[in-house]
Formats: sequence, structure tokens, C-alpha cells
Amino acid sequence: MAVTGKKTVKRIGVLTGGGDAPGLNAVIRAWVKTAVKVYGWEVMGILDGYDGLLQPGKVAPLDLNDIRGILHKGGTILGTTNRTNPFKVPVRRGGKTVEIDRSKKAVETVRKHKIDCLAVIGGDGTLILGNRLYKRRGLCMVGIPKTIDNDINATDFTFGFDSAVVTAMEAIDKIHTTAESHHRVMIVEVMGRDVGWIALHAGLASSADVILLPEFPYSARKVVEKIKDREKHGRHFSIVVIGEGAKPKGGRKIYYKTQTGLSRLGGIGAELAEKLAKHIKNEIRVVTLGHVQRGGSPTNVDRILGMRFGHAACKLIAEKKYGHMVALKGQNIIEASLDDAIGVQKSIPKDHPLVKMARDIGTSFGV
Ligand code: F6P
Repeated sequence: MAVTGKKTVKRIGVLTGGGDAPGLNAVIRAWVKTAVKVYGWEVMGILDGYDGLLQPGKVAPLDLNDIRGILHKGGTILGTTNRTNPFKVPVRRGGKTVEIDRSKKAVETVRKHKIDCLAVIGGDGTLILGNRLYKRRGLCMVGIPKTIDNDINATDFTFGFDSAVVTAMEAIDKIHTTAESHHRVMIVEVMGRDVGWIALHAGLASSADVILLPEFPYSARKVVEKIKDREKHGRHFSIVVIGEGAKPKGGRKIYYKTQTGLSRLGGIGAELAEKLAKHIKNEIRVVTLGHVQRGGSPTNVDRILGMRFGHAACKLIAEKKYGHMVALKGQNIIEASLDDAIGVQKSIPKDHPLVKMARDIGTSFGV
């Protein structure tokens, strides 16, 4: 049995935070199996991310029966939220909403359930909060990086990304055939927040003619030129893939407000369509793929990466590497200190090999 400081680990916990991603259940399954079969630990599941540490009745045992038949399932059996920050919990006081620090309560919940170490599975935001609980409140935790956006700097890939790319690619393939039949310009807006990894990979894999990335502010005039050039060569349709965080040169990203008041990227495809419509004759349609990219079964790549992360994270605990996360470098799973690993966004550099290849084979980035 592993030892943490002076304490023997007997029971560990796990929570999933932030937006869901295909492969979360693969991580949970490998984590529970490794904990039970290799280390003889008990496992507790925390429901709905950090919410589960602040609300009563959201911590429950997670045993081998609970994780049967979940490997291929999308979403997370634990539930998640991307709204709860234990350091800033909104409460109503004197007719006003104020934010209070409930991080002590979060750690008390972990201790009350005799959880010796917690695995936090999440994107940058969730991992930053986990690291803060570790450093400020002494919560023993390890991190497992997750996001469809693939924007965590310390890891080559996060699980969820491949599934999102495959979903987007398959959708764009379908859009391709109808675009060709109707001689239309189809603009497909994909997720990815402030980075264009999904747009780049899905756009390349589905032979998009134009790929517009948040990293390279675009010129609508260049997009028009590309579409007209295709026309000249007898290609009366075009596919434009645009990352939701893209923006025109000198322009702004487009956000909308959800009904709960959250600010989310979305709408840049429609804005581009309006600009293009002034210069080209083809009919233009916009498709926003949205949350379909987060749902459904994980690909084999994400299942295996998720399993490797879950398995390796147990080893981090056994070795008392708190405040660390697992990461993929090349073919290997490595560990990285959360202090170094998070808070730096992995964006697409101008000289990325995929960008260079795409330019060489005639894909336009609208620049
Ligand atoms: O970070 C994952 C992600 O799906 C982004 O690509 C997207 O911008 C955002 O989450 C959407 O968040 P929500 O689920 O709150 O709409």
C-alpha cells in the first residue's frame, strides 16, 4: 500500500469538471480498476465537479460494478459543471449577489469522507482550481487534463480532441456533398475556444478550401479571392471551416450570452457570411456544429489515451506526486507539475508543420 507523507492511502476520490469530453468515462474506468486491483484502494466519486464538494449528498462510493460497460459511452457518469469555483461562490446577501470563498468547505468534504487524495479531471480552469486547493488548502490532489480544444500546453494531446475532430470531419464530409450539388458556399463553425486545433485538423481531414483559425486574423477579401479562384477553375462550391474564436483582421471575436448569463463564443460564421455575400454570387449557408462535437462515443484514440491517463494518475498518487498531472509527450505518458503545466495556452504557431503543408497544397487561411 502506498504512503502519502505520514499517511497510508486507503481511499481516493475523483471528480470531472468543466465541459464534458468523449473519453471521460474511459479515464474513470481505468482509474477505478487500477486503484482497486493494483493498489487495493477504495474509490469515491464526487458528482458534478466542484459542486459535489460544496453541496450535501454528492459523494458516493465508486466500485467495480459502477464502472461496468462505460468505456464506450460519451459524457461522464459523474456529471460535471463549468460554473462552480469554490473560491468564488455567488450568494445572495442583503438583496445583492456577492462572491464568497468556500474552499475550506470543499476540503472539509474531502476529509469528512476520508478521501486521502483526489483526482481532478478537467481543462485548464478546473486544474487551476485544483492546484489552488492543493497549495492554499493542502488538498492532496493530482490532475488529469481533458478538453476537446486540445489547448493545454504541457500535453501533446488531450482525450476528447480526436473524437471532436472525427465528429466535425464527418459532418463536414456530409456538408461537402450537399454544397457541391447546390453550388453553395458552406461555412462550418467549429468549437475550440481561442485556439484552432479542431478547425485545423477537421478542416484538413475533410479537405476544406478555407480554414480560418483564431490564431491568424483573416481578411474576408482573401476568402473571396479563394472562392472566386475556385469558380474560375470550375469548382462552383466551397467549404469554409471557421473556428468559433476566429476574428477578422482589425476586428473582434463574437460572443453571445447564455440564458444563465455566461459569455460564450459563437456567431463568427454568420458574420463572415454577411461579408462574403456582398462579393460572391453563390448562395451561402452557415452551419454551427456546436455541442455535437462534445457528445457521442469516444474514438479508439481517446479511449486509449483516457485509459492511459487514468492508470498513470494512480501511479502519481502512489508516488506522492501531489500537485502534478499526467501528460502525453510523443508516445509516452509523463508527469508535469501543475505550476508549470497550466495557465499557458497551446495555440497554433504560424510555422506549424500542418499549416505549412496545408499552404503547400493550396488551403487558404484567409491571410
Ligand atoms: O472548452 C470546450 C468547449 O466545448 C469549447 O470548445 C466551447 O467554446 C465551450 O466549451 C462551450 O461551453 P458550454 O458547454 O458552456 O457552452
